[in-house]
Amino acid sequence: MLPKIIIHNSISLDGSLTNFIPNMELHYQIAGEYKPDVHLIGSNTITAGIELYENGVPPEETTDFEKPKRDKNLPFWVVIDTKGSLKGLLHTCRRFEFCRDVIVLISEKTPEGYKKHLEERNYSYHIVGQNHIDLKQTLALLRDIYQVSTILTDTGRILGNLLLNQGFVDEISLLVHPVLVGKNAYPMFSDIHENITLKLLKNELLSKGYVWLVYKVEMKQ
Ligand SMILES: NC(=O)c1ccc[n+]([C@@H]2O[C@H](COP(=O)([O-])OP(=O)(O)OC[C@H]3O[C@@H](n4cnc5c(N)ncnc54)[C@H](OP(=O)(O)O)[C@@H]3O)[C@@H](O)[C@H]2O)c1
Repeated sequence: MLPKIIIHNSISLDGSLTNFIPNMELHYQIAGEYKPDVHLIGSNTITAGIELYENGVPPEETTDFEKPKRDKNLPFWVVIDTKGSLKGLLHTCRRFEFCRDVIVLISEKTPEGYKKHLEERNYSYHIVGQNHIDLKQTLALLRDIYQVSTILTDTGRILGNLLLNQGFVDEISLLVHPVLVGKNAYPMFSDIHENITLKLLKNELLSKGYVWLVYKVEMKQ
């Protein structure tokens, strides 16, 4: 059996993933409740996060080249980056105290220079696909090599919709924010190919008008 996948996102009432201020404390508080073995994240999400929340990219230090020694119960951050877009940025993730370490997924097309960059910094990486990464192979690899049973993906539309379209998602967890984004919305589900039937598992009214909704995907691959 492939690992359980939960897509967890903060959205506006009109379904946008961006162009509002997400409540990050609440977002990660809910994410933590799933006790995932892995956070699966797309490279665009990492670059957007750095732009939004980091005050510039700090220079690398000697400790950034070593695997952190952290609690083994913390989740790995598994980052998809076949083009090497995160070259010089990964230490911002590795430094995060709730990240056990960063694992990078690349493909046969990934530039050799990026592989060398990862090796020099002691990042574990895996080649899982020819051009893009192969998601099914990825999930099997995480299960077999890292004994992963629960994956939480708090990523953007591209990776989230790929996982949904390919039938790998078990649950969708939405932290609905009391805000409308309107014409600047980045709609969370607009790349879904066909209807996906859901069953409501949770609807929890939180303080200040936030609502936490959890749906089970009825048909999974
Ligand atoms: N509100 C929220 O909860 C939330 C959470 C996360 C992100 N966001 C927002 O979402 C935006 C970023 O998301 P995004 O939709 O641009 O991208 P994304 O979800 O970060 O996904 C991009 C990833 O998908 C991979 N990919 C693309 N095509 C693929 C394919 N055919 N097969 C396998 N993998 C493929 C790319 O890999 P390669 O390029 O390496 O091949 C890349 O790593 C940002 O604006 C961010 O702020 C919002």
